[in-house]
Amino acid sequence: MASRVSTCFGVFAFALSLFSIVAVSVAEAEGETESSKGEYVLTLDHSNFSDTVSKHKFIVVEFYAPWCGHCKNLAPEYEKAASILSSHDPPIILAKVDANEEPNKELASKHEIRGFPTLKIFRSGGNSVQDYNGPREAEGIVTYLKKQAGPASAEIKSVEDVGSLIDEKKIFIVGIFPKFSGEEFENFTFLAEKLRANYDFGHTLDAKLLPQGESSVKGPVVRLLKPFDELFVDSQDFQVHALEKFVEDASVPVVTIFNNDPSNHPFVMKFFNSPDAKAMLFLNFSSELSDAFKSNYHDVASLYKGKGISFLLGDLDASKGAFQYFGLKEDQVPLVIIQKDDTKKYLKTNLEPDHLAPWLKEYMDGNLKAFVKSEPIPEVNNEPVKVVVGDSLGDIVFNSGKNVLLEFYAPWCGHCKKLAPILDEVAVSFENDADVTIAKLDATANDIVDDAFEVRGYPTLYFRSASGNVLQYEGGRTKEDIIEFIQKNRDKSGQTESVQPESAKDEL
Ligand SMILES: *[C@@H]1O[C@H](CO)[C@@H](O)[C@H](O)[C@H]1NC(C)=O
Ligand SMILES: *[C@@H]1O[C@H](CO)[C@@H](O)[C@H](O)[C@H]1NC(C)=O
Ligand SMILES: *[C@@H]1O[C@H](CO)[C@@H](O)[C@H](O)[C@H]1NC(C)=O
Repeated sequence: MASRVSTCFGVFAFALSLFSIVAVSVAEAEGETESSKGEYVLTLDHSNFSDTVSKHKFIVVEFYAPWCGHCKNLAPEYEKAASILSSHDPPIILAKVDANEEPNKELASKHEIRGFPTLKIFRSGGNSVQDYNGPREAEGIVTYLKKQAGPASAEIKSVEDVGSLIDEKKIFIVGIFPKFSGEEFENFTFLAEKLRANYDFGHTLDAKLLPQGESSVKGPVVRLLKPFDELFVDSQDFQVHALEKFVEDASVPVVTIFNNDPSNHPFVMKFFNSPDAKAMLFLNFSSELSDAFKSNYHDVASLYKGKGISFLLGDLDASKGAFQYFGLKEDQVPLVIIQKDDTKKYLKTNLEPDHLAPWLKEYMDGNLKAFVKSEPIPEVNNEPVKVVVGDSLGDIVFNSGKNVLLEFYAPWCGHCKKLAPILDEVAVSFENDADVTIAKLDATANDIVDDAFEVRGYPTLYFRSASGNVLQYEGGRTKEDIIEFIQKNRDKSGQTESVQPESAKDEL
């Protein structure tokens, strides 16, 4: 059964692998369950989830899997936060659901859980659901949830309020009003409620209190304070959609900075979540040319702002995960890479500052050739399971005229390790069958440039018949199941001749 098959999630790997803190704990131990004995965290399952959620005005639910390393790290912190928040007035309830357990899986898919752990905040008996975007250690969880349980926008009455509410390293959105009523105020409050998971909001009658800008502003006006670029932007369009667009647009830096400063990480996450093409310039921030690069990069980024491409500037020191992900080497910096979509990227290494603008122009004009990450093609490849790399996908999979079962795996993935001996046995059983190939590809070290394969977790298995039918294998992970599937879906040797000119010639 497809739903019982366990998968290592690669979903967020792209963004998360950039954060060394998270990447360390990717390796997951199997078979163990959470060690901490929860006392304050409620355990929910399919039988009592809806009932429990509907009874609470505010409840947080963690969807976890017992094998997931990040979940194990979170467990003691979550429990500690739950114990502290139990004495909050009114108490804030923290709960968890084992989303790996069969009957609970439906709950998880209903709430669009794509990775573990995922935390959601349910308000008003579950009528409104919001992502938890807060920290993952006890103190941070407590602070974040206290704020989430309070009003979406806090009134700023004094300089002290400004000090306690506004963190100058974060975005803060403040509504300045002549009075706290009327349609403008209502629309602002509505938006604050809608976006409260991602931004901090405040409102005030007195613009003089604010850290930026002149004091004569009376409003109604919405001011977005930010730690980058022009430092604040105003909007007076109070249509809800316009206001939301203003917030989303104004909160993206021209160039997102990626270094070891955690206060930049929310912007980095935002960068990676954007549907835009992503240009990333990596260099050593302490090197001599750093300033020249930064200024040239800022210029091109400003030039192409709003044209479907976003810009990130990464310090070599913080970018090990990214280098691993893209298969890059430190001696190639300064380098710029553009990730267009899942399958296309463009690379220029050993850059000089004045290469940037012309190279990006070539990209924007559609004149650049995409680059494929690949391990070297192995010289010897005579194990039963054949090794496929980015550069040999064509020869072994697409143009071989054979029936190929291809496993996409990650070296760190425990489920893949479990499958390896089984695939070996399958391969051995087909060893004398020239029309069937069993193969594997390390999807962390090789690009899959063909969109026939969609790889969202590891292991992912695809079968491509000799005539080109592509099927994802979602059956049981036993030798028998896999062999039966191949036999059922392979092309008989007669059917493959049309794509093999030589054997066709033999028949004449
Ligand atoms: C929900 O049901 C599960 C399984 O019966 C039980 O272990 C858990 O304590 C229940 N939770 C609540 C809050 O009633
Ligand atoms: C408030 O938002 C609604 C919905 O977008 C809009 O129709 C209305 O004009 C807005 N009010 C003001 C004063 O902009
Ligand atoms: C970056 O440059 C500085 C100064 O040249 C050097 O000391 C440092 O080792 C470099 N960092 C890396 C990661 O190469």
